[in-house]
Amino acid sequence: MARYQPRDSYYWRARDRGLPSRAAFKLDELLARHRLVRPGARVIDLGCAPGGWLAVLGAAVGSHGLVVGIDLSPTRAASPNVITLTGDLVDPAVRAEAVARLGGQADLITSDVSPKLTGIADRDQARSAELLNVALEFAHTALKPGGAMVAKAFMGAAFGEVAASFRRRFASVELARPRASRPGSAEIYLVATGFQPAPD
Ligand SMILES: C[S@@+](CC[C@H](N)C(=O)[O-])C[C@H]1O[C@@H](n2cnc3c(N)ncnc32)[C@H](O)[C@@H]1O
Repeated sequence: MARYQPRDSYYWRARDRGLPSRAAFKLDELLARHRLVRPGARVIDLGCAPGGWLAVLGAAVGSHGLVVGIDLSPTRAASPNVITLTGDLVDPAVRAEAVARLGGQADLITSDVSPKLTGIADRDQARSAELLNVALEFAHTALKPGGAMVAKAFMGAAFGEVAASFRRRFASVELARPRASRPGSAEIYLVATGFQPAPD
């Protein structure tokens, strides 16, 4: 899950375009393929540092849209339509602040969260699944009915259960592996549309 990989063409392309991370290309591809965001949209980005996805989302929502990012690490907001919060997404106060700063529920929640890795695959995958469940729980307060979610997961023992939880709450859940994912990586992206909140 966390092996060091040498710099590849996506690293150099990100550097040439002034993007803070190569991860931007993954979201770029997913948004283009699934048409998940339109100008004026409101988006919450979980695990936003160092800001590659924020750059893509800020450009996609335009000057009438808004993106709020959360990360444990302080993250620079590269444009006026992007706000960043430093905190743990597990903390309900941090999540509530994100919704308040967004000014209402989001059209799209993105999550590229990766836990601090121990190198023990089972433990890392389990922690990743826990964080993904927190992100899905967050959707119940922060995502509009009919909204969409893009979330990174890791293939492993916990994956089936995570995917099933998403399928219960979204009309459609597709699995995607962007070209910019590193070869051999266990990561996979859930692209979920048509959010159906649980009844109270
Ligand atoms: C792969 S990076 C995200 C890259 C980002 N999407 C980009 O394009 O630059 C994963 C991030 O998840 C963050 N993270 C891990 N656990 C978190 C938590 N509990 N709350 C908030 N952020 C978390 C890490 O700090 C890290 O910055």
